[in-house]
Amino acid sequence: MTALALLGYISAALLAQVVLAIAVAIHRKGSTSGQGTAANRRRDAASTAAWAGLRAFRVLRRDYEDDALSQCSFYLEPVDGRPLPPYRAGQFLTVQLELCDAQGIIRPVTRCYSLSDCHDRQAYRVTIKRIPPPADRHDLPPGLVSGHFHDHVVPGSIVQLRAPAGSFVLDGEPGVPAVLIAGGVGITPLFAMAREALAKQPDREIHLFYGVRDSRELVFEAAIDAMRAQHPNFHVTIVLSNPAPGEVEAPNCQTTGFIDVALLKRTLPNGGHHFYVCGPPPMMASLVPALRAWAGAHDAVRYEAFGPASLASAEAVSAMPLDQPLTVRFSRSGRTLSWTGEETNLLDFAERHGIDIESGCRSGSCGTCETTISAGEVRYLQRPSFDIAAGRCLLCVGTPIGDLELDA
Ligand code: FES
Repeated sequence: MTALALLGYISAALLAQVVLAIAVAIHRKGSTSGQGTAANRRRDAASTAAWAGLRAFRVLRRDYEDDALSQCSFYLEPVDGRPLPPYRAGQFLTVQLELCDAQGIIRPVTRCYSLSDCHDRQAYRVTIKRIPPPADRHDLPPGLVSGHFHDHVVPGSIVQLRAPAGSFVLDGEPGVPAVLIAGGVGITPLFAMAREALAKQPDREIHLFYGVRDSRELVFEAAIDAMRAQHPNFHVTIVLSNPAPGEVEAPNCQTTGFIDVALLKRTLPNGGHHFYVCGPPPMMASLVPALRAWAGAHDAVRYEAFGPASLASAEAVSAMPLDQPLTVRFSRSGRTLSWTGEETNLLDFAERHGIDIESGCRSGSCGTCETTISAGEVRYLQRPSFDIAAGRCLLCVGTPIGDLELDA
């Protein structure tokens, strides 16, 4: 090999090393920026993931939605300023407050309110109806929280919220017409579902049946009119049960009376629908079983009740006094009590005996009252909205089958 050839080999080797080094550097740079993108993606995902426990929200604004001034929307933005996780229309927020009971003692109170609009990254909206307090004395009467919101929660107020939850959501079958049936304030999750369906399943046939006493109780009227004008596949039937003079002829009244299967059969003669129902206990108790009988398939009817044990009668199960009382032991509280069958659920039973159990929806939807069963079994007056792990139970919709021991 000549000196010239040797010099050529050395130069070629050096050049190859330089090219290799540049290639490695470019590759590393690419990898690093790729990791950065993944990290950013992870950070973005974390910032919009559902949070655990409570998160502080500030009331941005509040608007009455009805002429009767009984239903008020609250717009809630996170105090930490981070984007909100997405939710499915039909889900609810759990609110935790501390309020004075009838004895003036401050107690934690938990309630669930449906989200009343589809997802917005900046703020959540819930629409709360003022519930008149019952005449009889009660430590934490049912209207306490809604009254607190109406009377004291104003722009700037801070409330503590758990992340959106619930399984009362639209199916992903755009080929099947969806029938949304709302009674009173039951419109809140169904209005959100209608908005989501029209945005995400624009070709789906959506029927909204909305029952109220008179037009003063109608909410989201302008928005519903705009949706109807914009989407020919969105059909609205407003049903007034007690119309004021002149309201029957008004454009926002399609019929009078109550929403029942006869009305649905007249309006939806072809069948083959999926039904979503949310309304007060009497409506749920009559409509849900009748719809199931008409639809044939159990899964074709989905519902969310508001108020405790709303569907107890719909499921044809009711609390029955027992000949022989059962023993229910709350082991952590150190209490052993007699269950005589006069209560409709274990949550009411525990509270009546002064045992504090955290609760939210009181209707088997939020999981707040989920408790470990140490011994025994529980049956449900109404089917919980989600599967419960073995060895656990929901006290708000559960009753004991025999002697029972709970870790509470
Ligand atoms: S309180 Fe919500 S599931 Fe029992």
